[in-house]
Amino acid sequence: MTLQNLREEIVGIDAEVPILGGDHRRYVFLDNAASTPALRGVLRAVEQFLPWYSGVHRGTGFKSLLSTEVFDAAHDTVGRFVGADLRANTVIFVKNTTEAINKLANRARLGRDDLVLTSVMEHHSNDLPWRRHATVHHVGVTRDGRLDLAALQRLLREHQRRVKIVAIHGASNITGLLAPVHEIAELAHRAGARIFVDAAQLAAHRAIDMLPDDDPGHLDFLALSAHKMYAPFGTGALIGPRAFFEEGEPDAVGGGVVDIVTLDEAVWNRPPHKEEAGSPNVLGGVALAAAVRVLRQIGMETIASHEHHLMEYAYAKLSAMRGITLYGPTENLTEKVGVIPFNVTGVHHALTAAIMGTEGAIGVRNGCFCAHPYVKELLGVGLEEDRILTAEIRAGNRSRLPGMVRASLGCYTNEEDIDALMEMLERIVRQEYHGSYVQNTATGAFLAEGFVPDFRAYVPFDEPTTPPESRAASEAS
Ligand SMILES: Cc1ncc(COP(=O)(O)O)c(C=O)c1O
Repeated sequence: MTLQNLREEIVGIDAEVPILGGDHRRYVFLDNAASTPALRGVLRAVEQFLPWYSGVHRGTGFKSLLSTEVFDAAHDTVGRFVGADLRANTVIFVKNTTEAINKLANRARLGRDDLVLTSVMEHHSNDLPWRRHATVHHVGVTRDGRLDLAALQRLLREHQRRVKIVAIHGASNITGLLAPVHEIAELAHRAGARIFVDAAQLAAHRAIDMLPDDDPGHLDFLALSAHKMYAPFGTGALIGPRAFFEEGEPDAVGGGVVDIVTLDEAVWNRPPHKEEAGSPNVLGGVALAAAVRVLRQIGMETIASHEHHLMEYAYAKLSAMRGITLYGPTENLTEKVGVIPFNVTGVHHALTAAIMGTEGAIGVRNGCFCAHPYVKELLGVGLEEDRILTAEIRAGNRSRLPGMVRASLGCYTNEEDIDALMEMLERIVRQEYHGSYVQNTATGAFLAEGFVPDFRAYVPFDEPTTPPESRAASEAS
């Protein structure tokens, strides 16, 4: 597998979708930061495995023994992919990064006197779980939207030993900026804290090395999501010291997590089983391991340099375009994974995104991307404005929801995809789009009049009974 033939390996790459006016166009998918499409290699691995699939652990039949072996090995494949020393660390399969962070926060034996340092740049998933258990300090950003490392250092110095965990992104889902995680790990360790890295946006874009446990730059804990790594089968992973998870009670209890149960006692199993309550998602694990094998085969360095080339290509065009506001740094693009946040001057972010999809067959995303504090910081939303907007949203009116548009790249993205994005942007800037768009104030989304695709012609499903307003108000990724 190479980058050249990779596009053929993407499920659905040639899909054509309807656009306003009745035509169909090749779909250009630029929302890879939310979820990537599946790799054929992943699909093949799942298909090859399915005839042998059976429930794992403790079954005595051949299929169960085989499935157990494959599923357990998948844990190690993921651990090796991130450079974990598997003699001392364990790989726990969870649903996704969000579940991984909740588990870690639940299991970290924190109290209100303990501090967790995170940053205003984080996805809500690497912020809200910590708030439940400890006192959280948010490290701010510099004027150009980077993590304020000096402020982090100051906080660590000020609160030596009280900081238990520094919880930081590997790469931002808004600006794509990479955090200097090994440098932060050294600072955290020196202050007596541990580091957790949210690698949701990192794992499919850059090689990760947690480093040996005795290295000062060692990453203590790390989480990732398979659906952002070309294996959308419902699995994620949390990697961390086995000894940490051997202590205390698991956060979810039931089958699988115990060795022995009497009517008044439970003896816990060893990690990772202790932390994977109930019947695990075997297929998800198989799929994630298969994705890791394909990514390894292509080479993470190759992926990083391809992405860098595309970012240079895109930013050169964007910088030359009038009427576009870019957020975060626009130079030194090696410091960023393939995420491009922008707005078109005078055009609501939700309208830009709707036109892209409806007239350009381009899949992007808009809004605050589950990182409200960072997006508002980049947009320069002041406290008073924020208060007014929050009151509007609480009252059910999302029409003025602040936000931006995000185009995000995958390893299979090519220059043609970027060109398609630029062409549509030019059209929006020049107001050369055709549709008449109406905003739904409850969801904030814009819909083109007369554009009513028949989704059931593509995939069979039952007619939903809940109205769109009650389904679409929340945002993710
Ligand atoms: C940086 C970051 N962290 C965490 C998450 C949460 O990942 P998941 O939705 O897979 O739990 C995301 C999702 O977009 C993300 O971008």
